[in-house]
Amino acid sequence: MPSGVTSAMGIGPADCRGVPVSYADRDAIEALEKAHECALAFRGDAIGLTDDILREHPNFIMAHLFKGAWLTQAMETRIYSEMVDAANKAEALIGSANDRERGHLEALQAWLHGDFFGAVQKWEAVLTLYPKDLLALQLVHLTDVLLGDVVGQRDVVARVFNLWDESVPGYEYVLGFYSFGLEENRDFFLAEEMGRQSLALRPDNPYSVHAVAHVMEMQGRQAGGIRFMADHQDRWGTSNFANHLWWHKSLFHLDLGDVDGVLDIYDNHLRNDDPQTTKYEELDAAALLWRLKLLDIDTGDRWAALAERWEPSAQDTLYAFNDVHAMMTFVSDEREEAQAKLLSANERYVESASDANVAMSREIGIPFCLAMQHFHKGRYGACVDTLLPVRYMTHRLGGSFAQRDIIGWTLLEAALRSRRFDLALGLANERCALKPTSMQNWTYVKRAFQGLGDRDNAARADARAQSLKAA
Ligand SMILES: [Fe+2]
Repeated sequence: MPSGVTSAMGIGPADCRGVPVSYADRDAIEALEKAHECALAFRGDAIGLTDDILREHPNFIMAHLFKGAWLTQAMETRIYSEMVDAANKAEALIGSANDRERGHLEALQAWLHGDFFGAVQKWEAVLTLYPKDLLALQLVHLTDVLLGDVVGQRDVVARVFNLWDESVPGYEYVLGFYSFGLEENRDFFLAEEMGRQSLALRPDNPYSVHAVAHVMEMQGRQAGGIRFMADHQDRWGTSNFANHLWWHKSLFHLDLGDVDGVLDIYDNHLRNDDPQTTKYEELDAAALLWRLKLLDIDTGDRWAALAERWEPSAQDTLYAFNDVHAMMTFVSDEREEAQAKLLSANERYVESASDANVAMSREIGIPFCLAMQHFHKGRYGACVDTLLPVRYMTHRLGGSFAQRDIIGWTLLEAALRSRRFDLALGLANERCALKPTSMQNWTYVKRAFQGLGDRDNAARADARAQSLKAA
């Protein structure tokens, strides 16, 4: 990093990208860059490093703001007080802050008030003034993913991309964000190119491995996906993103019908009894077991162990995306009390609160929770009736297309089990149109034709499925 960098305005201290920082200690600024790099590269302990900096430099406002901002992304109630503390300490120092730092504080405060979309607006305003503010760019992109703003997660990068190149530190991460945003908007070719460019600059960038894995998932390139993940495993396997990337690898195996491969990944990489496990890891585990449940595969005691871990979060109502994954475990392990707690907490919450998560819970979160209860109890028709009206709105739940696919998949399985074969055929056809190389999708077409008594078309679909499985 060049020393003595000045801000874009040419005056005052700045970070290695020329973005102004009001606190003039060069060592502190460089140390914060290292902490940020941990967050960007999903390695090490970004918060721990920031705490170290703040012990020595308690008046370094940008370090407080970074800590609060990075904690927002955890979407967990247990770190809420730390976020509040970071915001309060930053606010106490605001008198000597610059406009960029004031913008970051406003964003963090909006978040703490539950106005997640408002926080994005504030970070976007900072980015507009400082297009090389990598933290603002990262936060807008990642929050758009959390909130299901599909277009925003791509266009926040497009807005500033021509101001970045290899000479700007952190460019490889910007390529990774762009890659994922393009992928979610189905621009698969450019997404893969950006992701691979990023990996050429920095092979140990799990976010870019992730973006390319998503491209392969969406395009149904299962064998290539397994190979790609294996080829890069030494770069992502030890990162803080490893759990989610193992989940992605398991999806490729699942689509090929390789249940042993899926369970092997679950038991060796997703099942975790460490109490420090993050919510993200538990999300992936639940999401994988639910898919196996849809395929009628017995997963033994795995649900019970996982439900135990989710139970303390039953009344969080912080993030609908978490709640639906908690519900998968409560339903599957038949924890009636936990289900009731989760639903009543959600009902009370949507009645009384006005934060950004209310709409996500009301529109998608609660209906999907109810649909899962119907499914498990064998009320397949009710499951279909609950999910059918919301199936094209599921992006409002946040997460990725690959993650939310679980909703459409549940709907299709329920349609078949409720013997609504015309509907099941339509739904299966949609899935095949989007991913024609999926063995699972063609198996669903086959089952729908079988239900309709169309043996010829069922045989044709089965031939396609078998050939894809063997590919
Ligand atoms: Fe993903």
